[in-house]
Amino acid sequence: MRPLLPFLDPPVSGSPCASGRAALTCRMRCGDACAHEAPNTSENAYFGDVAAGMSRRGLLRAGAVVGVGAAAAGLSVGTTTPAAATPVVAARGKSKSSRPAGAHGKGLDFVPVEPNTLDQVTVPPGYAQAVVMAWGDPLFTGAPAFDVDRQSAAAQRRQFGFNNDFLGLLPLGRGQHLMVVNHEYTTEQLMHRGYDAANPTREQVEIGWAAHGLSVVVVEEERGTGMLKPVVGHRLNRRLHTHSGFALAGPVAGHPLVRTTADPRGRTVLGTLNNCGGGLTPWGTWLTAEENVNQYFANGASVTDPTTLARLKRYGAAGGATERRWERFDDRFDLAKEPNEINRFGWVVEVDPYDPTSTPKKRTALGRFKHEAAEPRITDDGRVAMYMGDDERFDYLYKFVSDGRVARGADAGARRRNRDLLDSGTLYVARFLGSSSRADIDGTGALPSDGRFDGVGVWVPLVSGTTSYVKGMTAQEVLLFTRQAADVAGATKMDRPEDVQPSPRTGTVYVALTNNANRGAAGQALADEANPRHANKHGHVLELTEHGDDAAATSFTWNLLLVCGDPADPSTYWGGFDPRRVSPISCPDNLAFDPHGNLWISTDGNALGSHDGLFAVPLDGERRGQVRQFLTVPVGAETCGPWIDDDRVIVCVQHPGEKDGATVDRPASGWPDGPGSVPRPAVVASWRSRR
Ligand code: FEO
Ligand code: CA
Ligand code: CA
Repeated sequence: MRPLLPFLDPPVSGSPCASGRAALTCRMRCGDACAHEAPNTSENAYFGDVAAGMSRRGLLRAGAVVGVGAAAAGLSVGTTTPAAATPVVAARGKSKSSRPAGAHGKGLDFVPVEPNTLDQVTVPPGYAQAVVMAWGDPLFTGAPAFDVDRQSAAAQRRQFGFNNDFLGLLPLGRGQHLMVVNHEYTTEQLMHRGYDAANPTREQVEIGWAAHGLSVVVVEEERGTGMLKPVVGHRLNRRLHTHSGFALAGPVAGHPLVRTTADPRGRTVLGTLNNCGGGLTPWGTWLTAEENVNQYFANGASVTDPTTLARLKRYGAAGGATERRWERFDDRFDLAKEPNEINRFGWVVEVDPYDPTSTPKKRTALGRFKHEAAEPRITDDGRVAMYMGDDERFDYLYKFVSDGRVARGADAGARRRNRDLLDSGTLYVARFLGSSSRADIDGTGALPSDGRFDGVGVWVPLVSGTTSYVKGMTAQEVLLFTRQAADVAGATKMDRPEDVQPSPRTGTVYVALTNNANRGAAGQALADEANPRHANKHGHVLELTEHGDDAAATSFTWNLLLVCGDPADPSTYWGGFDPRRVSPISCPDNLAFDPHGNLWISTDGNALGSHDGLFAVPLDGERRGQVRQFLTVPVGAETCGPWIDDDRVIVCVQHPGEKDGATVDRPASGWPDGPGSVPRPAVVASWRSRR
């Protein structure tokens, strides 16, 4: 095994978060979220004792009781819809597999990659991999090729952005796909030679504005491999960045708290920021989630109005200067000058990638928080449910259910009818109820006496159209300050809810909970059955089954599929599978399904000494819970994306070389262009090259 680059050894410490992440990543990606007090200081109850000793049927009844608020509000709780064939979002990919069934089941025919710290993308024997597109690659005819020494904002607006995160493929036919990609954030130290963080130049700031945002790129299948080649200059290629036009849509559009000097009507926003995970809708649009947007807004601490200050604090924006100093170049990033601009970020954004002239819409009916992703499932009566996590320590899991039904088909008429489906519906937050007593959940991760971390839960309604279910808040205030509404509603504090993925086969919903070093710390929430470890370094994956298997249900059962970490650690759990036959996994983040119903998990911040990676796990049969690693990423990188179909596995390699002290002149990684080059975030495809 090749050694770590010299100045990276021993592994970088000083990161304020639980994971193995560099402090630089914490600062640039999350605005140092974990270095600050967790912004959720509400006092929500622990419900474990209530349900102790109950049968599953009893638990469901208890769930309905906990949800009396919902019933009183005229919404059904624990509906007993028969488990009819639940229509779910169509499985992605094709049926013909280039990765045939092996000893480990369909789609899982690979020898696991060992944990490692190599400065490369490592895939299993018999698999090939290659970069599809990297930061700075041109999207448009005439756009300059990447050159770190000749970069300009004008060039960057026509090139692939920085730090690719979510990735999706939408079909175009004839071997072509629309590849849609988020560019979550920028790391200026790794983009500009001699970068002075205290005094960035206007051009550097404008390059940062242009390198954030979204890309739509047409890609073409290469014959005989799983490689995808970008079609430079295709009419559907598109870059959206910090100065592109976005519309505010839904109940909050036009509200006084989203009006600014530049937009007195409160309906048009420049840009989208910190787009992390996302999802694709059954009607062919792309959802992208604005996450740690607080970090772009300066001088929150100077706000004196107590209500505004409390809101800024709950969203982590009550500080001074920002890391990137954008406020020096545009007043809208200065809360002392434009107090409402921040309220125009933190939404789920819907983009129609098939129409390059369309204006993307910020869907305010889905609430405002640190959105990780938004993944759909169709309800029994044909509406759409969107599952969403708020990625912060002690924040919450949400679900939105539309009022209207999804029009089937991909024709222009159906697309038009679905166009504003996400503007009206009901937003819920999850409350979890454990099946074991509090005494049985001791924070070590030891299984309770009934042998499972499990229980029931309710979806507590927060707002429906113009009706608020939260005392003291209007419907629009609930959507603008959803975290505070959920505090009042007694939502369950979770260990950083990241991606939430419904299985296209079974409808069961999977929730990645990355980690939470503060669980059980002085003055913080103790372990509960859904978050059973104190100082949770490695995270867990929760399985949620809606009552009656209907995505519209307002109660559910749940259990932990995985409690992650070193398999030799007795606090880990592998869905009942033998820990001696699994790959170690730490800090689950993005989730995706392959066409065979296997769950794939990418990691962010491996705290076991290996680089981050991508893992596959079957969910049924005798191999349920057998986590096996497919891939690892280079030095400093996180694994994002992922996309798995029968022809390829795709990941976004985010922030390669992002190590403390690294610069363009002193890079910590030479990936992907070779030793001595500046590392570049990039999309990587892998495929089976040998049978
Ligand atoms: Fe951008 Fe929650 O990771
Ligand atoms: Ca992530
Ligand atoms: Ca996902």
